[in-house]
Order: sequence, then C-alpha cells, then structure tokens
Amino acid sequence: MPHADYPLGNKNTLGLESTAQFFAPFQTIEELRELSRWARERDLPLHVLGGGSNVLMPEYVKGLVVQSTADGVRLVEQNNDSVVVDVDAGKNWHQWVGESIALGHGLENLALIPGTVGASPVQNIGAYGVEVSDLIVSVKGYHLSRDEERTLFAQECSFGYRDSVFKRDLNSDFIICSVRFKLSRAFSPNLSYAPLNSLQAKENSLTAQMLIDTVCAVRSSKLPDPVVTPNAGSYFKNPVVPESKAQQLRSVHPQLPVYPQTNTTYCKLAAGWLIEQCGFKGKAFGPVAMYSKQALVLTAEKGAGLSDVHALQKRIQNTVAEKFGVTLEPEPQIFGQSR
Ligand code: FAD
Ligand code: EPU
Repeated sequence: MPHADYPLGNKNTLGLESTAQFFAPFQTIEELRELSRWARERDLPLHVLGGGSNVLMPEYVKGLVVQSTADGVRLVEQNNDSVVVDVDAGKNWHQWVGESIALGHGLENLALIPGTVGASPVQNIGAYGVEVSDLIVSVKGYHLSRDEERTLFAQECSFGYRDSVFKRDLNSDFIICSVRFKLSRAFSPNLSYAPLNSLQAKENSLTAQMLIDTVCAVRSSKLPDPVVTPNAGSYFKNPVVPESKAQQLRSVHPQLPVYPQTNTTYCKLAAGWLIEQCGFKGKAFGPVAMYSKQALVLTAEKGAGLSDVHALQKRIQNTVAEKFGVTLEPEPQIFGQSR
C-alpha cells in the first residue's frame, strides 16, 4: 500500500522541499504492474523517481511516485571479446561503474555521475567523451499505457546528446526496470577529452581503476558534492548551434570553446563559458547561486524553492540570449510534469 503525503525533500539532490501525494518502492515488474493498476483505479498519474539528481521538484507532486529498489547485476553471456550484463534500475550508478571493471570495460569515464542505472538511458548520461548509449544493448521496462513489459534495443531508443525516446515519445510512459550493457574485455581507454589528456603519457601502465580515480579527482575539483552543496549537475545543456553561428561568435570572442560534432554542420558551445562571461559565476540570488568553480552548475541553499530556481534560470537565459544570441535549454526537468 503506497504511503500518503510522502516527503521528497531528501530524495532530490537540489534539496527542494516537496511532498508526493503517494509514494511506493518496487522491486519487480509484477509489483510495478500492481502499483500501476492501483493508480489507474484512482485515476492518478504515476511517476518514476531515481536518485533525484536530475529533477526540479515542485512543492506538490500529484499522483503516485514509484522508485525501484532492485539492484541486481546478472551476467548474461561472455566471450573472449565482450561481456553482456543486465543491471537493475535501482542500482547506484557510480557503484555499478566501480563493479563493472571486474567484468569488462567502457564505463570508466562515467564514474561519479550521481543517480541510478535506471535513469542512465533517459538523458543518455555522458562525460569525458563517452555516452552510456555507447555501451547499451537494450533497455527493459514496463510500458504504462500498453500495460505490457517491453524490451527496446538501443537502435529504438533514439539516443542523442542528453536525449532519448524516454524524454520524447515515451515520456512518462515507460518505467525502466533493467539495462543490458555490453562491455569490452580489452581495456582501451578513451583519453580524448582535455582533462584526461595527461594520462596518455602513462597509457601502458594505466589501469581501469586509475582511470576511474582520475575521473573522480577531475570531477571533484570542479563539481560540487550534492551532499554538501545541493545541486543537479549542469543546469543547462551545452547549446548546439550551426557552424556559421559558432564562427560568427568566435570572430568576436576568440576564447569561446567550440566542439565540432561528427557528421553534422552543427557545433556544441560551452554553456559554462557563456554564463561566466555574463558575470554569473559564483553569484548568489537569494538562496540559489551559480557555482564558483563551474558556472553551469546551479546550487541551492536550504529553503530554496522552484520559483527561486526558475527566476535565476530566466535571468541567465535572457542575459545569454541578449549578449550572444544563443538560447540555453535547461537539463533537469520539473518532476511529475510532461516534458
Ligand atoms: P532522477 O533525477 O531521479 O530522474 C531523472 C529523470 O529520469 C526523471 O524524468 C525521471 O522520471 C526519469 N527516470 C528516473 N528513473 C527512471 C526509470 N527507472 N525509468 C524511466 N524513467 C526514469 N549527467 C550527465 O549526463 N553527465 C554528468 O557528468 C553528470 N554529472 C552530474 C553531477 C552532479 C553533481 C549531479 C548532481 C548530476 C549530474 N548529472 C550528470 C545529472 C544526473 O546525475 C544524471 O542525469 C542521472 O542519470 C540522473 O539519475 P537519477 O537516478 O538521479 O534520476
Ligand atoms: N568553462 C568556463 N567557465 C565555467 C565552466 C566551464 O569557461 O565556469 C569552460 C571550460 O573551461 C571548458 C568548457 O567550458 O573549456 C567546458 O567545461 P567542462 O569541461 O567543465 O564541461 P561542461 O561542458 O561544462 C559537460 C557536461 C557535464 C560533463 C562534462 C565532462 C553538459 C551540459 N555538461 O560539462 O555533464 O560531466 O562536460 O564531460 O553537457 C551534467 O550533464 O550534469 C554534467 C555535469
């Protein structure tokens, strides 16, 4: 039986105070199906929460909030080249990355990203030149409106930069219960991203654990620990603009970091740089601020509400649009609302 009036303040890393009308944990697809029936009978929407590290919590979430507590890891098959593993949605992401290197490789660059395995395909988490979609075979879950269990292969997930079918056509309609990963038996580290370049010199002696430790050190030097300083990671996505726009901006601002995208005529710009240039880095506006070591991260103090977050979001969006003619799109979404 779901709990009524359940507090969500400590279930989101920004620490926004919030109450769910109903809340229930689940382990299996059968339990999830029961909960979905329960909600349908009462005409209530159902929402799934992971670790709450990429959501903006409103004061009140109408309906039933469910959260997976399943954290199993199951070997599916292996050969000389690769290993295939199923991991349950409730497994802590960073813990899984740490355990994965005993089985195979590929996930090391994604160490220390907060949250759960179940949420990792939703925005196709990425860091230091790797996206989780590079390692995903399929995603298994429960399709609410069809009332059926489904497996979606990676090609069906429409993975993109911080994007997937779970944020689009299947938004609010698919609860991920487990993710199937294919890891490589050989360790061939991706050190292409600038902060990891220094490891290239040690490539022969580099181990997967050393790579994970380096990624953790780089991240800890610029990203705030949500337990100490509540935040939701990058608040905005890096804007993707036509090459011509990037060139025009570069001619006026030669320092602007521009990342060309493979097979397109678009480029990604560093939102953190744009925000810093507008003077927001380290600046507080009431109980919310843009972090002093990374201007893309919005931090919140106790007592902050969604309206404070939105006021700062708008202020930054307007300033960046005025100064650079670039639109910034928030990365975390309001929980419990259709995207
Ligand atoms: P939640 O925040 O709980 O949920 C996010 C969305 O996914 C919600 O819409 C929710 O409904 C949906 N969802 C959750 N679980 C499921 C499920 N089982 N089935 C279907 N939908 C589900 N992200 C990156 O990509 N790269 C980074 O480097 C990175 N660094 C971060 C650093 C910090 C300090 C923080 C706080 C966040 C960072 N993030 C990063 C963002 C965040 O960690 C990821 O998006 C993460 O995958 C969110 O996981 P979660 O379990 O907390 O999801
Ligand atoms: N920069 C500034 N000022 C700042 C912040 C950044 O000038 O205040 C510049 C940096 O000097 C660098 C560039 O912007 O030249 C990029 O900065 P960084 O390497 O820190 O990465 P990012 O683009 O800000 C992205 C992801 C992170 C991910 C890192 C590493 C997005 C929205 N963010 O950040 O993901 O960890 O790259 O790959 O794509 C997240 O999504 O929550 C997240 C933290």
